Amino acid sequence: MLYSDKVMDHFQHPRNLGKMEDADGIGEVGNAKCGDIMKIYIKVEDDIITDVSFNTFGCGSAIASSSMATEMIRGKPISEALALTNKAVAEALDGLPAHKMHCSVLAEEAVRAAVENYYESQRRL
Ligand code: FES
Repeated sequence: MLYSDKVMDHFQHPRNLGKMEDADGIGEVGNAKCGDIMKIYIKVEDDIITDVSFNTFGCGSAIASSSMATEMIRGKPISEALALTNKAVAEALDGLPAHKMHCSVLAEEAVRAAVENYYESQRRL
């Protein structure tokens, strides 16, 4: 079996899917090679990620990675979200095929981009 049960589960039943209208930070990243795009929305209160959702236009591994990443940072301090690595996401999914590891990189990058966007919006206040 190419994909783990967890990958299949998160691909078929993505957690926290959908746009967040009142997000405090939005991170959008893409992979130029495959053309896949991932967007992560976060809500922040007292440095804690109180809510998170995503939209991914991409392959199954990218969808599963974003779903898992949202679960991993929900309720966590920003510092922990920034420390989230694509390896940790892939491990939480019980692994990804080697040629699909780059899909989990999108999740790491999108989380970071969302936090950066949040910090930028704070600076504008
Ligand atoms: Fe592009 Fe998976 S093939 S993110």
